[in-house]
Amino acid sequence: MENIEIYNSNCIAQNELEDNSIDLFICDPPFGIGEKDFDKHYKRSKKTVTKSYEEAPDNYGKWTYEWLSIAKQKMKDNATLYLISGWSNLGEVLNAIHKCDLHVKNHLIWKFNFGVYTKSKFVSSHYHILMVTKSDKSNITFNQYCRFGPQEKVKEGGSAAYRDMEDVFIINKDMKQAKEGEVKNNNKLPDELIDKLIQYSSNEGDSICDFFMGNFTTAYSAIKLGRKISGFELNKELYDYNMKKLSQLEFGHGLSGLKKITIEKPANQGKKITEEEKQNIYKDYQELLSQSKLKKDISKILQDKYGRGHFSIKNILDSFKN
Ligand SMILES: C[S@@+](CC[C@H](N)C(=O)[O-])C[C@H]1O[C@@H](n2cnc3c(N)ncnc32)[C@H](O)[C@@H]1O
Repeated sequence: MENIEIYNSNCIAQNELEDNSIDLFICDPPFGIGEKDFDKHYKRSKKTVTKSYEEAPDNYGKWTYEWLSIAKQKMKDNATLYLISGWSNLGEVLNAIHKCDLHVKNHLIWKFNFGVYTKSKFVSSHYHILMVTKSDKSNITFNQYCRFGPQEKVKEGGSAAYRDMEDVFIINKDMKQAKEGEVKNNNKLPDELIDKLIQYSSNEGDSICDFFMGNFTTAYSAIKLGRKISGFELNKELYDYNMKKLSQLEFGHGLSGLKKITIEKPANQGKKITEEEKQNIYKDYQELLSQSKLKKDISKILQDKYGRGHFSIKNILDSFKN
């Protein structure tokens, strides 16, 4: 299959993917915390949850270093790798990243809707997502306005793009019970989370890889968004079930449904600001203040009148404070 190269094998022992070929990795390995028993915490029928979940071997740090060094070989120089981790082995994961001489660009927190009930300690309701690059100078893909345009606002009035780019993601877990005939393991990532990482950190036609496919969440998102997908999954039941479903999907079938983003630039953005313009802006500002207008409304009026952005107006007004 032209855009799909996924193997039912061990990503460490049998990895023949081409070196320097991957634009974006999304890896959600077993966390080394006894995931096979997870389902006892959730009220779900055991009938449709696959049992053959491959957990991580005992030496989590060594194992993480092994697969991560292979991932590094497969990354293009400007690639991004997202590594999802629980808190218990986070130290081992960070050590492995350091040992591989990779760079942590962002440390994201995924806050989900509920954790497992506890009586004698706080409820854990987050995972860590480490955004890793080959070096701090890597020229990575980051599509700032892929989901919200610069002019879009949230209900409370702030910038929607800014809010979306905050490093705490609040997204519900995917706890949907598999239907009869479907196969699922018990820790599927939400489609919304993976779509978001793919939209920010890759472009159409890029190559995405996931060493631990599980329920193939990364693969379904990649094909939906017109990105090539490669990777591994050891569990044969999950592999066979999802490969069959995936191969029936049209490449890029979700692209036409994506929200269209309009990026309207202020008319004079990039043009040099003259001393006269600065003085006029300040004069207008004083005048509008004397009319008891709110500062945020004044900024908008000045942006429209002078064809400048929010920060440009703010910087000019700040320069008169001293
Ligand atoms: C946490 S799950 C991934 C879940 C996935 N992100 C999803 O949304 O469904 C980890 C998966 O890695 C698989 N796995 C464990 N060790 C592996 C290895 N060495 N090579 C390939 N797959 C492995 C497990 O069988 C499991 O399905």
